[in-house]
Amino acid sequence: MDKFVIRGGSPLVGEVEIGGAKNAALAILTAAIMTDDYVLIENIPDVSDINVLLEAISGIGAATERIDRHSVRITGSTIGAVSVDYEYIKKIRASYYLLGALLGKYKHAEVPLPGGCNIGSRPIDQHLKGFRALGATVEIRHGVIVASAENLRGAHIYMDMVSVGATINIMMAAALANGNTIIENAAREPHVVDTANFLNSMGANIKGAGTDVIRIRGVEKLHKSEYMIVPDMIEAGTYMFAAAATRGDVLIKNVIPKHLEAMTAKLVEIGCEVEEFDDAVRVCAKGRLGRTHVKTLPYPGFPTDMQPQISVVLSLAQGTSIVTESIFENRFKYVDELACMGASIKVEGNTAIIDGIANLTGARLCAPDLRAGAALVIAGLAAEGVSIVDDIVYIERGYEDFDQKLRLLGAEIEKVSDEREIRKFRLRVG
Ligand code: EPZ
Repeated sequence: MDKFVIRGGSPLVGEVEIGGAKNAALAILTAAIMTDDYVLIENIPDVSDINVLLEAISGIGAATERIDRHSVRITGSTIGAVSVDYEYIKKIRASYYLLGALLGKYKHAEVPLPGGCNIGSRPIDQHLKGFRALGATVEIRHGVIVASAENLRGAHIYMDMVSVGATINIMMAAALANGNTIIENAAREPHVVDTANFLNSMGANIKGAGTDVIRIRGVEKLHKSEYMIVPDMIEAGTYMFAAAATRGDVLIKNVIPKHLEAMTAKLVEIGCEVEEFDDAVRVCAKGRLGRTHVKTLPYPGFPTDMQPQISVVLSLAQGTSIVTESIFENRFKYVDELACMGASIKVEGNTAIIDGIANLTGARLCAPDLRAGAALVIAGLAAEGVSIVDDIVYIERGYEDFDQKLRLLGAEIEKVSDEREIRKFRLRVG
């Protein structure tokens, strides 16, 4: 298994370009099959989650043509099957977006139930509730969700909890239903808005995305489109907090500062200087940062996908901080890894109590999931000495060229595959 080996202690300094949002691209690439015309999607991140989803889309017969690393042309006219193989769902949960897309377009879809994952059980009851409200019969047969409808009809749906995936999945199916649908208590994330904007670019009629009430007037069919994915707020936030952890000075380019406000606010609160430009933010941290309390919330609150990263920064802060994870039930597994570096963090239920210490020291670590893996790399960059982060396959699901981008910021980090290469790295960095 590939690993990252890191020699910490150098502040990150310089500029980094942010790519397209993985969680918008996963929804939009799926929605692209809802028309029989061709669709060109640009600014997609070249990460394994995207590449697996494109395999799933090809797997049901859609034509996908990779123009370059960040652009793909999709044509849904050749789709021959409305059932998705389990191998894809196992690799990438977001294949469940094919439920909403296929049900909307073909009024039938068969998609294996996604299991839980490293951060929680992650049921999809709200997705199924929405499809049923739109008039579909939804059954679970041998682990496969079978959804079908004579016709889908608009409905007034109140979500039991804010769910990004359910909001997007229901929005896709409703786009081609007869009549009007209202989704109340909808998710407001930028990737929900991006998906709505994309569907509208194909001729859908969706209003209110970005608020907690989304109104969809169903249309007969959708048409071709060319679309550019929104910048990834979580990739941007990860580099913002890496700058803070290493007391660096980094210009994060190609972002929408508005999407980063909850993260910017916390960085300023603990003592960073954050300067906003039209499409960039600059994060500068001098000296030891202060403590804070943070609770993860649906957008525009502090993102759960940034919870491990802020915990790493707070593990080095002056004083005791409290981090509360309100979205997922098992998102503190990285804490045991940080303890190997000397961090002083106690997890009680969905809360982590973090007593900041002056220095972390390098250690051998294992990435437990995508965002925690990125956070452990940040910890290695801030720590004294050499760290090795194993299982980086998780990190490569959502971060394009992670080590390359960090090296351009002055980090001493390399991707290695065996002990011999680790020894070479140690000899080189001294
Ligand atoms: C999306 O997951 C993201 N993934 C996650 O990012 C992100 O952490 C999450 O939204 C929250 O922002 C993608 O977009 C592909 P939810 P999703 O439905 O849609 C519960 C990453 O690192 N729930 O908003 O699955 C659920 O268990 C990933 O890029 C139900 O109970 O999240 C969770 O506790 C990790 N029933 C909460 O709601 C449902 O039917 C929020 O989940 C749906 C969700």
